[in-house]
Amino acid sequence: MKALILVGGFGTRLRPLTLSVPKPLVDFGNKPMILHQIEALKLIGVDEVILAINYQPEIMLNFLKEFEAKLCIKISCSQEFEPMGTAGPLALARDKLIDESGEPFFVLNSDVICEFPLKQMVEFHRNHGGEATIMVTKVDEPSKYGVVLLDEETGQVERFMEKPKIFVGNKINAGIYLLNPSVLDRIELKPTSIEKEVFPSIASDKQLYAMVLPGFWMDIGQPKDYVAGLTLYLESLRRNFSEKLSHGVHIIGNVIIDESAQVGEGCLIGPDVAIGPGCVIEAGVRLSHCTIMRAVRIKKHACVSQSIIGWHSTVGKWARVENMTVLGEDVHISDEVYSNGGVVLPHKEIKSNILKPEIVM
Ligand code: GDD
Ligand code: MG
Repeated sequence: MKALILVGGFGTRLRPLTLSVPKPLVDFGNKPMILHQIEALKLIGVDEVILAINYQPEIMLNFLKEFEAKLCIKISCSQEFEPMGTAGPLALARDKLIDESGEPFFVLNSDVICEFPLKQMVEFHRNHGGEATIMVTKVDEPSKYGVVLLDEETGQVERFMEKPKIFVGNKINAGIYLLNPSVLDRIELKPTSIEKEVFPSIASDKQLYAMVLPGFWMDIGQPKDYVAGLTLYLESLRRNFSEKLSHGVHIIGNVIIDESAQVGEGCLIGPDVAIGPGCVIEAGVRLSHCTIMRAVRIKKHACVSQSIIGWHSTVGKWARVENMTVLGEDVHISDEVYSNGGVVLPHKEIKSNILKPEIVM
């Protein structure tokens, strides 16, 4: 199967983060937003992802090259020279989306996060036999979204209204679609809104169905929702956690550990800890209220709390790092050293205790 991800817009609501990278590359829960989607697509057998993009395609492609190989998935770009809206890009990528298989394809907004139950979506789509399936979810403030009225029994969509001013219902478009190739015949090659033009017309032909999304959902395209989204995301990860950490690692509260990190035996982790990619947390380590960035090593029996450990740093055996200690990139704390609120500039080696909060240059 194939998928198209809508990667347009300048992500202005997520500035200043989007001054550095396009919105889909902004990290969420230790990895770029778009990777959550690409990984979920790969998991159910999607082998080609098309990014519908209207600016900076090089940045996206360069970044994703690594993951193309790692995940064994083809990632290509379909570039617009003027913003084509949310449907126009599908017409533009028509040749890439259609092949002789006649299989339906996924379309995703790039700023939504959930558990991506895509397998269930495919089953739902095959069962109803209509042209298109959209995921819907319940929210408290539906006026910011596309509101969907549906037949509760069959899931058939009766009406689709984009950002209605008055309350019509609280089930909204979650920005995840599965479309038959025939939907492309409904879209002209010009700037078009899938929400305002295409979905209402498929709904009036009784060919649009909605599946209620199990689990959490959030559009993380603005700071307030991004922050709330992380709470929901961590909560859902925690539910799947206990199976993963079988070798005597104890987790307290909400914790996020990148898949590529290693956590040794007998560690006690949490609450409120983030461990980034490539980290090695050796046996017996105690971590709480801290962020451990990419490629850090925390050696045996060290204890880190209320602190931030920058990229590629190490914390020695039996060391104790606490009270808003912030280690810059590539800082090395020797064995048994104590840091009480030290702020350490990059590329330093710390061999003696830092007894009170101070800047170490
Ligand atoms: N390629 C391309 N070109 N992509 C675009 C363009 C464009 O001109 N305009 C918007 N997009 C992409 C955005 O990057 C985003 O991934 C997606 O289309 C939706 O656009 P948003 O700007 O994020 O829309 P929204 O959040 O106000 O509303 C949409 O999402 C809601 C769910 O989060 C709608 O689909 C609503 O119906 C839906 O409820
Ligand atoms: Mg959005």
